[in-house]
Amino acid sequence: MHDLEEFAKSTVEPAEALTLPPRYYVDPAIFEYEREHIFEKEWLCVGRTEQLRNAGDYFTVTLFGEPMVLVRGADMEIRALSSVCRHRGMLITTPGDGADGDWNDLDESSGNCGKAFKCPYHFWQYGHDGQLVQAPDMDRTPGFDPSAIRLPSFRCEIWLGFIFVNLDDNAAPLAPRLEKAAALVKNWDFENLVSAPPLDLPGMPWNWKILHENSAEGYHVDRLHGPAHYVEPSAGVEVHEHEKGDAAITFGMRAIHPDFALNPTGKPFFPVLESLTEEERTVSLWVLIPPTLLIGTNSDSAFYRIMRPEAVDRTGIHQSYLTPPDYQANPLYDDLLAMSGDFHAALNRQDWMADAAIQRGMGSRHSARSRISWQEGPLVQLYSWLQARYLPEAGGK
Ligand code: FES
Ligand SMILES: [Fe+2]
Repeated sequence: MHDLEEFAKSTVEPAEALTLPPRYYVDPAIFEYEREHIFEKEWLCVGRTEQLRNAGDYFTVTLFGEPMVLVRGADMEIRALSSVCRHRGMLITTPGDGADGDWNDLDESSGNCGKAFKCPYHFWQYGHDGQLVQAPDMDRTPGFDPSAIRLPSFRCEIWLGFIFVNLDDNAAPLAPRLEKAAALVKNWDFENLVSAPPLDLPGMPWNWKILHENSAEGYHVDRLHGPAHYVEPSAGVEVHEHEKGDAAITFGMRAIHPDFALNPTGKPFFPVLESLTEEERTVSLWVLIPPTLLIGTNSDSAFYRIMRPEAVDRTGIHQSYLTPPDYQANPLYDDLLAMSGDFHAALNRQDWMADAAIQRGMGSRHSARSRISWQEGPLVQLYSWLQARYLPEAGGK
């Protein structure tokens, strides 16, 4: 599956490194290996705590075939529960009225379940902690003990307002491996920022690593984006140290002036966050927590993108902005966000067209490995993160 010597050529110093062998983006066997060794082992971001403000608030997600529901309990704890009914296996969050209408592609759902989830099939009910609290007409089933039945739960961690789930019950906790990243972005107070309405794009036509690489290098910004990205030029890339065990890869993009923003004016539309230092108002910080989360900072806000690997050539995207809650009270909030969003959408179109084209390129018989620019330095850290999971015996970080 992996050739240690070949892979190691991607994890030397950036000045000497090669990109990954192209088959890592197109071979379904690699994706299956990643499923077992990465996606079912690592902490996967599924959303934000503000999606679950009140007791009973829930949203569903299906991670690598595993249906689950994230719910806030009356004790205000957020839990990740299996959404598979313990009776005959219906998903307890599926609308019973068949309103979705597309049983080949069940929608995820969100809402408030009240005091309990009620499975629409036979009305078994489960509390916020997964405990079966009611099962009608089971009185002629001797020995049936509702107290012994509960929805299984998954490991769940909250980090700065981001909700992470792990399919591996034995995974090491996440937060201790994110301490450096947490210190780096402390002044943005992510925990108390709130999301704008998210953009959901399932099935984008590329391998998940292509999108990570696109986000983790500044080499393309002067070229692919050209003048549109003038406020954060390629030469502003600042590679941070990445040590073994770090769950995040971080880097900076130094802007040409403080209080920058990626829009045609180069200035933020919202008030600059008062908690930021002069330096923090000048450098956009990027935090990549593979395999699913990317966070970027601006002087007035932050941005995040949750990536959901679906197949070797398919990746879902869920992304949004983060601002202090009182910014949403600004009567012009929607207009300002839309102006900013339109510009970012234009940049995204350029990036995503490139990602789709690269995916096709990687499948070519002529695809090959290449040397990289110093402005692509963080790629080597991503390759090293991958090496530690593909080939743990070979090192990597
Ligand atoms: S399958 Fe859920 S109550 Fe029967
Ligand atoms: Fe880009």
